[in-house]
Amino acid sequence: MKAAVLKAFGSPLAVEVVPDPVPGTGEVIVDVAAARLLAYAGEVFSGARNYSLELPIVPGSGAIGRVRAFGPDATHLSVGDWVYCDPTVRSRDDVLVPDILLQGLTAAGEGGLRLQKYYHDGAFAERMRVPTENAVRIGTIDEADAASWCALGSLLVPYGGFAAIALQAGETVVVNGATGAFGSAGVAVALALGAAAVIATGRNQEALDDLARRYGRRVRPVRMQGDEENDRRRIQQAAEGPVDCVLDLLPPAASMSQVRAAVLAVRPYGRVALMGGVGMAGGPGLELPYPWLMRNCITIRGQWMYARDAIPRVIGLVRAGLIDLAGFRITSFGLDAVNEAVAHAAAHAGPFRFTVIEP
Ligand SMILES: NC(=O)c1ccc[n+]([C@@H]2O[C@H](COP(=O)([O-])OP(=O)(O)OC[C@H]3O[C@@H](n4cnc5c(N)ncnc54)[C@H](OP(=O)(O)O)[C@@H]3O)[C@@H](O)[C@H]2O)c1
Repeated sequence: MKAAVLKAFGSPLAVEVVPDPVPGTGEVIVDVAAARLLAYAGEVFSGARNYSLELPIVPGSGAIGRVRAFGPDATHLSVGDWVYCDPTVRSRDDVLVPDILLQGLTAAGEGGLRLQKYYHDGAFAERMRVPTENAVRIGTIDEADAASWCALGSLLVPYGGFAAIALQAGETVVVNGATGAFGSAGVAVALALGAAAVIATGRNQEALDDLARRYGRRVRPVRMQGDEENDRRRIQQAAEGPVDCVLDLLPPAASMSQVRAAVLAVRPYGRVALMGGVGMAGGPGLELPYPWLMRNCITIRGQWMYARDAIPRVIGLVRAGLIDLAGFRITSFGLDAVNEAVAHAAAHAGPFRFTVIEP
């Protein structure tokens, strides 16, 4: 089969013929229809993000495709089923502390790297092999919509954060970094889950205006100006009442002060989910005041990705019309143009738009 291979950090991906993946017990082979590119894929492939990838590797985290073959332990899958290939691979031999690999993207710690040795290759290929539990049926779709369904990759991340802090219908939530790819998906998910108001923060006024235009009065954009206390005051003013929870999705380039501007806006007994890449490149810690956390019974929750049951639920939100995949702008490239696709994804990052490879 044809695949895109990263042979060295900083070199372009090489499109070449590699051996077909072979399924073992507990695995599924999927014919990849569409695979989303992260806006920051170029930073991963250049080595700038310092992600754990054992080279050479076929990168690509997550895909929409059709089941081609499965092992004897699958009891619900059929050949031809449309599935979401969830990149979040967890080790199966420790229920309390599973190691996590993001297949085709990065691994956490020694255990994640050991998983990567086996589930080595990702989605930028004609076929991929995933653990059985990672091939999640999405139901019947039109083949032409496979690229749109890649939006699941953006929607699931904030859903994981909201599930972790138990967002309730009728609550007021701040999405910090709402003008980014994952943050804007966070706004869509919060609304779908019934948030009464979403305070959407960012520095890009045009992107904030677009969020307000799309969603109307339940979304209240607040442009961040870089003065922590002033930004926080304006978040609280926009909330017109207590902020029940905060979801932070800022990137490594953002400062801890930008995170604190939103986190400290939460009400007493409030909940905060930290999901961004802030601090991944080093630098100072978050430094939240101990007495503020203690006296106000604040919950601070770190969250990487999402639990498996998030996937059918987000599919349900889409199927119910609570999230409209038609709202995403998608640019598609063939496998042979994978390097152009990486450059395009970086140059066209932003809310409700992404780039896909359609092998
Ligand atoms: N926890 C998880 O499971 C998980 C999963 C996937 C991704 N992530 C993390 O989520 C982060 C966001 O990803 P993304 O694809 O949404 O990124 P993105 O599209 O680049 O969005 C970044 C957002 O941060 C804002 N921002 C604020 N200060 C910034 C600064 N100094 N430099 C750049 N942007 C700044 C940007 O908008 P303005 O310019 O309007 O301020 C934008 O809203 C990633 O860095 C990644 O580490 C976490």
